[in-house]
Amino acid sequence: MKKARLEERVYFGKDGDRLPIIKTYLSEVQDGFVPKTWWPADEVGSNQSARRDHLRKLLTDVEPFGTPKPEALLQRIILISTNPGELVLDSFGGSGTTGAVAHKMGRRWIMVELGEHAHTHIIPRLTKVIDDEDPGGVSETTNWQGGGGFRYFRIAPSLLESDRFGNLIISRRYNAAMLAEAMCKVMGFTYAPSDELYWQHGRSTESDFLYVTTQTLTRDQLAKLSDEVGDHRSLLICCAAFRGKPDAFQNLTVKKIPSAVLAKCEWGHDDYSLNVANLPKAAPPVEPVQTDSAQRLTPKQTRRRAAQPNLFSTDGDGGAE
Ligand SMILES: C[S@@+](CC[C@H](N)C(=O)[O-])C[C@H]1O[C@@H](n2cnc3c(N)ncnc32)[C@H](O)[C@@H]1O
Repeated sequence: MKKARLEERVYFGKDGDRLPIIKTYLSEVQDGFVPKTWWPADEVGSNQSARRDHLRKLLTDVEPFGTPKPEALLQRIILISTNPGELVLDSFGGSGTTGAVAHKMGRRWIMVELGEHAHTHIIPRLTKVIDDEDPGGVSETTNWQGGGGFRYFRIAPSLLESDRFGNLIISRRYNAAMLAEAMCKVMGFTYAPSDELYWQHGRSTESDFLYVTTQTLTRDQLAKLSDEVGDHRSLLICCAAFRGKPDAFQNLTVKKIPSAVLAKCEWGHDDYSLNVANLPKAAPPVEPVQTDSAQRLTPKQTRRRAAQPNLFSTDGDGGAE
């Protein structure tokens, strides 16, 4: 507005008391004219025209989605708000119109849908778009010729759930292999279970491993694991609970599963937009104590220990059991 006023492009009416109007010159507009706020059905279609004239003919085996948006409507929205190659998100995919139009307009897209119509409507529809078997909607105005592709993922159930006392526990829907794989992902390890060593579920390097168990580990069990891991390897153990002090086992880092998972989540923000500059800073590395038999910790081990200062304290979350 300031810039427009300096350029004398703001008009307040001849007596200067009207709502301001800003002059926009054609040369400033990328493509066509400034969008109007009133979008009549004869320009952008309607639910009814989308059902009757397009989707009923496109997916003949299924009853069309109840209220599909017409492709011309999404075309206008996507044209106004994005450039070719940009990413369009519709986290409530519905009939799949957003993805179909984004695809035809050369945008990348993500759709999320929890209903079964993800399979019965969205996937068949987008497959037809890709195979150039969708002559309707905006295919003509976008000169759509088919092509491209998409990937489809199913989101796993939540790893944690509340028990009847309100405590977080590992979801009963996870079996041992699913849990090990999920924890590898959460902790940044590659899932690579070993046939020989029961404690190797994942690895981050040739000598750094992850072990996942729902057991409570005793001090003796930790000592045995430490012996097996040896001096030249390190092991991150994610377990339900543990006893004993970690300092005795320089090659082990032990974490409780609910706390380890929760520490990787961010809760309670007003603003969840990812701003890398604002990510929480890691605590400064703790200088490892060197004993006769102990080796110096690797930087990774040092970081892990520094990041879990309260894991073995008895106050609050993260205390050893
Ligand atoms: C009105 S439709 C969306 C229409 C679509 N965006 C369009 O432009 O045509 C809303 C859709 O959101 C889905 N939905 C509702 N809650 C959801 C959730 N939590 N995650 C994913 N999809 C959800 C519903 O199943 C429904 O298909």
